[in-house]
Amino acid sequence: MEYSVVVVAAGSGTRMGAAQNKLFLPVAHHPLAYWTLATVAHLRECTQVVLVTTLAERSRFLELAQQAGLHALLWAQGGATRFESVLAGLAALPAGQALVLVHDAARPLASPALFDRVAAQAAASGAALPVIDVRDTVKQVENGHVKQTLDRTQLALAQTPQGFRTSLLIAAMRQAQQRGGTCTDEAQAVEAFGGEVTVVEGERQNLKVTYPEDLRLAEALLGGGSLQLPRVGHGMDVHRFVAGRPLWLGGVLVPYERGLQGHSDGDAVLHAAIDACFGAAGLPDIGRHFPPEDPHSAGISSRTLADAAVAELWERGWRVAQVDITVITEAPAIAPYAAQIRDSVAQVFRLHVDDVSIKAKTAEHLGAVGRGEALVALAIAVLVPFSD
Ligand code: CTP
Ligand code: MG
Repeated sequence: MEYSVVVVAAGSGTRMGAAQNKLFLPVAHHPLAYWTLATVAHLRECTQVVLVTTLAERSRFLELAQQAGLHALLWAQGGATRFESVLAGLAALPAGQALVLVHDAARPLASPALFDRVAAQAAASGAALPVIDVRDTVKQVENGHVKQTLDRTQLALAQTPQGFRTSLLIAAMRQAQQRGGTCTDEAQAVEAFGGEVTVVEGERQNLKVTYPEDLRLAEALLGGGSLQLPRVGHGMDVHRFVAGRPLWLGGVLVPYERGLQGHSDGDAVLHAAIDACFGAAGLPDIGRHFPPEDPHSAGISSRTLADAAVAELWERGWRVAQVDITVITEAPAIAPYAAQIRDSVAQVFRLHVDDVSIKAKTAEHLGAVGRGEALVALAIAVLVPFSD
């Protein structure tokens, strides 16, 4: 079910009381509107996006859209009211778009499934409105006194995205405009036009960020939300044993007659753990970060490489939460040093020791590792968003 999306972002956020448009306020490491645009960027069935902003904020929003992965989008200049902004967005829509969804940029938590659900219902019945039920008792209040209690079972709270057959929405909005009326949402224009609006199930977490406390709620929900799940990566490293080198494992000097060959100190355990972290963050491997051709890195301690890796992950908003390591070697026996290696790895990755595991195996005399020619290290790392 293909559809277009109009995202309205031309408000000023007066109720937020910030010095700038609320849509640029930081939530979970990004401006609020980034999250909305990132969700829209990931809608598989969405064929066109119109972003409505003020002229003054146009370039800032277009840059944000790029960062969020929205590369092809149309722009329209918003008006003094949300109603005018939606009209401007619809006017910018190319011909031939059968279905259109209108969405508030101030709702960063609407899920892709909600967009698809609304679009499917709009295609079936012409107009679809996501709603949630009213949990609190609702009072009609006048001059500081309760006038009456309303029957909440007959009430529902409207959300966006709201979906429509494009021709129906445009006709309804034009009529509302001619009548000089304003609507706070599009469904209202369709209702006044005599159209049927079908409700679909909304999402309780799909809050409209309006007041400062909403920012904290959105932060909490996005921090643990689908876009910020923990990430898992794995890494492995093999180094050949050679005579005349110290054996470094996990930042610990292990007494042995040979050491691991390598451009750096050859610490296969730290290399595997670093690669697991880079993998979890979707980054290239250790060799691309610290090229062996670099003369400055000859003989470098792998703890220094790990420090640089942790710093890079922090800059990207990731914290290492867990590292699990397996060492495969015929000799030396790792068990006597496992606790020391575990402490060291915990220190390097800023972890509690309980969040690190060091396990060792032999290769049962099989292959090069079994003949004692090399050591293999395997690692899995878990990263979590820094706010967690
Ligand atoms: N909006 C718009 N054009 C307007 C007013 C609002 O595009 N003239 C957009 C807002 O940017 C927001 C959405 O409509 O994404 C919902 O509006 P609201 O949450 O009320 O945002 P603001 O109008 O910016 O906030 P406030 O009412 O507190 O000033
Ligand atoms: Mg408003």
